[in-house]
This record gives sequence, C-alpha cells and structure tokens, in this order.
Amino acid sequence: MKQRPSMLAAAAALTAAFAVQAQQPPKKAPPPAKAAAPAKSAISEEFEKFREVLEEDNPAELFEARGEDIWKNKKGPDGASMAQCDLGLGAGVVKGAYVRMPRWFADVGKVMDAERRVVHCMVKYLGYKEEDIRKQPFSNVNKTPDHVSVITYVAGQSRNMKIAVPQKHPQERATYEIGKEIFAYRAGPYDFACATCHGNDDMRIRTQDLPNLRKPDQAIRAYQGWPGYRMTGGFMLTQQWRMNDCFRQQRFPEPTYLSDTITALLTYMTVTANGQLYKGPGIKR
Ligand code: HEC
Repeated sequence: MKQRPSMLAAAAALTAAFAVQAQQPPKKAPPPAKAAAPAKSAISEEFEKFREVLEEDNPAELFEARGEDIWKNKKGPDGASMAQCDLGLGAGVVKGAYVRMPRWFADVGKVMDAERRVVHCMVKYLGYKEEDIRKQPFSNVNKTPDHVSVITYVAGQSRNMKIAVPQKHPQERATYEIGKEIFAYRAGPYDFACATCHGNDDMRIRTQDLPNLRKPDQAIRAYQGWPGYRMTGGFMLTQQWRMNDCFRQQRFPEPTYLSDTITALLTYMTVTANGQLYKGPGIKR
C-alpha cells in the first residue's frame, strides 16, 4: 500500500493518455478488418510496458480490500455472513477457490462461474437483492458495485495459483462442450462467431491484439488480468463484463447477466487454460 498517491496519479495520467486509444468501436461500427497483423502495434507494446510498472502496485488492491471487508465483516439481515458461502472448497474457504471455478454446485444443481457463485452467496447470506444487482451488474466511473469488489477479493485469494477447473461431474463436461459450440457458432448481422476474432493466431483489431482462445497458452488471457482495473475510468471490470462486451463486438444481443451461456463460454476457455498460473487481478486498458 506504499506510494499509493503517486501510483494513483500515474494511473490517472495513463487514463488520460489511453482514453483516446482505447475507445471501443461505436455500436454500429462497420465490420472490423479481417486482416491479420504481423507484429504487435507500437501502442500495444507501450501499454505492456506501463502495465508491468503499474501491476507492481495495482490499484485493484483497493477493491480487493473493500471486498475482503464485505466478505469478513458484513452480516445479512438474519446475521448470516459469507463464512457460510461455499465456493466449492467448503464453507467460507476462499483460498484457491477462484482458479477452480466454473464448477458443479450440488446445492443449486448447476455449474456456476466464480462471479455467479459470489453473487448467489451475497443474495443468499448478505441479503443483497438480485434485481438490484442486475440493475447495475458492471462498474462504471460512478460506481464499482459491492459484488465486483467481492469478486476481486476472491480472485486475489488465488493469486499465483494454477488454474484447475474440474471436469469430473458430467454437467461440468457437458458445460464445456456447450461452451465450445457457442464459441464456434456463427450468427448475427455479420455472421461472426467468437472464433472469427479469437480462433486464429495474430489477429488484431485497431490497436488490440486478439488472443487465439482455442490455444492453451493464449486461452489464459480469458483469465489473466481479470478482474481488471480499467485505466480508462479507474474502476474494476470482471470476466462477465468482458463477455458482455464481446457479444457487442460480435453484434449479438446482450446476454442476460449471469446466464448459462456465459458460464459455458467461461468453462470452455478456462478448461483450455488449465494448468497455467493465474497472477491475480490485473490492469486492463
Ligand atoms: C469482432 C471481433 C470480436 C468477436 C466476434 C469477439 N471478440 Fe472477444 N475481444 C475482441 C476485442 C477487440 C477484445 C479486446 C482485446 C484487448 O483488450 O486487447 C476482445 C477480448 C476478449 C477477451 C479478453 C482477452 C484479454 O486479453 O483480456 C476474451 C476472453 C474474449 N474476447 C472472448 C470472446 C468470446 C468468448 C467471444 C464470443 C462470445 C468473443 N470474444 C467475440 C473482439 C472480439
């Protein structure tokens, strides 16, 4: 927590610097160029350098601390707490849970990803209302919702652990297969699938290098750095947000927050990344 003010000032400066570069395409943008780019753009390389410096003292820690406080101290209306929340490793166990989700949860009879499970517990034990969470599921400049901070805390508790998403339960395997299918499914006004942008090496849109998420060494990017501190805005974004934004990239209708579709996609990508090291919440532009 040392040097926080100077680090935040640096983050603010970078936020301004990247605001111009990092804008997402407008809703009705023309289809992105198909072109594969040979090399990383100069902007990407610059950004990587900034990220390395910033990640040594990542503002995501502030949100981890907030989430930890909620996890450890907040009580629900009937005195329940997150100590009762089972993330797959037993009630109240947080260490290592994030890298082992999505997984089967017998109590709800569903495969759930980490974000879904955390929200489930916050509703069940802390008295949060699901409809309120759905009103603002993702962070913006005005607010990082509580559940995003808790997810960031849970993710931080798997820092430097290997991704080990289970595939034992038949539903876990079925969910992987569904995710794989959705990944390849082409539809929408431009007939895009996830695989259109993330199924080949060396793809790029504008300044952004696109990972080939079918390959283990690149599928890790579905996990690495998420939840991510967004420099353009100064708030935390989760994997579910990333998925939402890619449905927009794909010109598909926006998925329902915490839907089976997203759990399936996350299962497919994280199983592909199994065995790799998760470095904890990161920084995204
Ligand atoms: C039209 C192209 C396009 C399509 C289609 C698309 N994405 Fe993306 N995706 C992007 C862009 C652009 C980024 C941002 C890359 C960056 O920030 O450097 C991205 C980022 C991602 C990331 C995060 C990578 C990282 O390094 O953090 C994941 C995971 C992802 N997409 C998954 C998907 C999935 C799953 C689908 C299908 C539902 C999909 N994408 C469809 C363009 C697309």
